[in-house]
Amino acid sequence: MNNFSYSIPTIIHFGKNQLHHLKEIKEKASKVLLVYGGGSIKKSGLYESVVNELKEAGIEFTECCGIEPNPRIESVRKGVKICRENNINAVLAVGGGSVIDAAKIIAAGAVYQGDPWELVLDGSKIKSALPLYSVLTLSATGSEMDKFAVISDLSKNEKWGTASDCITPVMSILDPQNTFSVSKKQTAAGTADMMSHTFENYFTNVKGAYLQSALCEAVLKTCIKYGPIAVENPSDYEARANLMWAGSLAINGLLSYGAEVKWCVHPMEHELSAFYDITHGEGLAILTPVWMKYVVNKDRSKVGDMAKYGRNVWNLSGSDEEVCSAAIEKTRTFFTHSMKMPSSLREVGITDKTNFKEMAKKAANGCKGSYVPLSEDDIYSIYEEAL
Ligand code: NZQ
Ligand code: ZN
Repeated sequence: MNNFSYSIPTIIHFGKNQLHHLKEIKEKASKVLLVYGGGSIKKSGLYESVVNELKEAGIEFTECCGIEPNPRIESVRKGVKICRENNINAVLAVGGGSVIDAAKIIAAGAVYQGDPWELVLDGSKIKSALPLYSVLTLSATGSEMDKFAVISDLSKNEKWGTASDCITPVMSILDPQNTFSVSKKQTAAGTADMMSHTFENYFTNVKGAYLQSALCEAVLKTCIKYGPIAVENPSDYEARANLMWAGSLAINGLLSYGAEVKWCVHPMEHELSAFYDITHGEGLAILTPVWMKYVVNKDRSKVGDMAKYGRNVWNLSGSDEEVCSAAIEKTRTFFTHSMKMPSSLREVGITDKTNFKEMAKKAANGCKGSYVPLSEDDIYSIYEEAL
């Protein structure tokens, strides 16, 4: 196990009817930027409840709405401008990962002299940020409890992740009831996303991090048990609650501390979203089984790791080779059958290889130092296989 410094500072208020905690914002700020997406919170009634809480607490607010899935830098710039013009001193995101990610860079951009895209390209430039709060409405990214933000500039086919402790939310409200209205498609995509975060942490070359590995297996089993239940019955509280907490734990550092590895499926997927604006979790569900098969074929010493996953997560038995193959197949059919997700790039509208070379080049850079190092040619082959 590697050395590490533990720091997961976000206060979480988890469970039913936690919105009254919004008054805690008053301890740090009096004028808030309320950031939200395309209207789901208005439909569900959450918007009204949030606004009532802010008013009751005597917190003034200005709105920044219309944040897109795969949030755009243009929306971030708009939010930064509003902050500056209105002397905003805290940001409250109400939504999924896209809204929270945009709010993070708005919070950092508001106190930065240059263009916020510079903060996306280089997280070390984020030296401070307005305090950020969130009310999560979609279990997926873990943005509610982590230091990352992913922003796109689709005019350049670019989508990059940035990171800074300064943008980690101060407090997040996780009420599983707020996810009852999430569509089947987004529920499945969100579950695939948190599973992918867990896989990225689980398949590491660091030896002896037994506890982290066992925690990863527990998160994966939680997703496998409750993902299909939430897809079938969106108002199942137990399923929504377990998925919500799994999503936060998958990426907040708990699973990776001491077992760090460079992620690889995420850089590959970010290129799919950058070029084709597809849903992040769907891209991950398509790429993950293909990546698994590719890396165990490229490096046969990894068959044992995949077999361990098959035995501990899927209860499979047999030789390492048998369990390895069966585990990859189980993963694929879990996404396509149990979660009813697309199984190929064609199914999400990517019909030819035109951009694969450029995408592979960009992704290869992000994959350096990963579990099984992949070249541009390797990544091109994975895209081809996924087509
Ligand atoms: O915009 P609204 O109207 O709110 O609708 C959203 C959106 O259309 C809808 N939605 C959200 N909550 C809902 C709801 N619909 C009904 N009821 C609710 N309660 O769902 C759609 C997708 O929302 P989005 O926020 O885009 O989804 P998600 O949470 O999966 O976020 C995806 C983004 O996060 C990035 C992804 O790349 C992508 O850009 N990621 C962020 C990470 C992080 N910050 O750590 C890590 C991840 O790996 C990921 O890259
Ligand atoms: Zn992700």
